[in-house]
Amino acid sequence: MAILNIRKIGDPVLRSKAKEVEEVTDKTRDLLDNMAETMYDAPGIGLAAPQVGILQRVIVVDVEDDNGLLELINPEIISVSEEKAIMEEGCLSIPEEKGHVVRAKKVTVRGLNRNGKEVIIEAEDLLARALQHEIDHLDGVLFVDKLVKVID
Ligand code: NI
Repeated sequence: MAILNIRKIGDPVLRSKAKEVEEVTDKTRDLLDNMAETMYDAPGIGLAAPQVGILQRVIVVDVEDDNGLLELINPEIISVSEEKAIMEEGCLSIPEEKGHVVRAKKVTVRGLNRNGKEVIIEAEDLLARALQHEIDHLDGVLFVDKLVKVID
């Protein structure tokens, strides 16, 4: 395993669209292992492959709940709740900034696990937020694109 270099805002790779993984192989599993190690080392609660310079649709998330580490390949949001939530976010690629973002409170995500098997994840609150944030990264979208002003 290896700790990978986390790309920072301004790096064009963060604004590029990641490609679907056509076949889950040992290389994909190595990437997942290295991404998880990099995320825990940072430390962070999620990481998307473009953040380590790899334009593949691969994410890892661990919000320290019962799900533990989630590793998802080709993740897709297949449903979102109408109910929204607002919360402050940060990003390992934008270390100096935090800001409030409105996102769906609940999402259902479909993807492949490290064995290439389809998994469906029903998530709410922080996990739903982390999944939406990481999936945005796969399309070159960063939380700073979605900031809202909070009036205290
Ligand atoms: Ni991020």
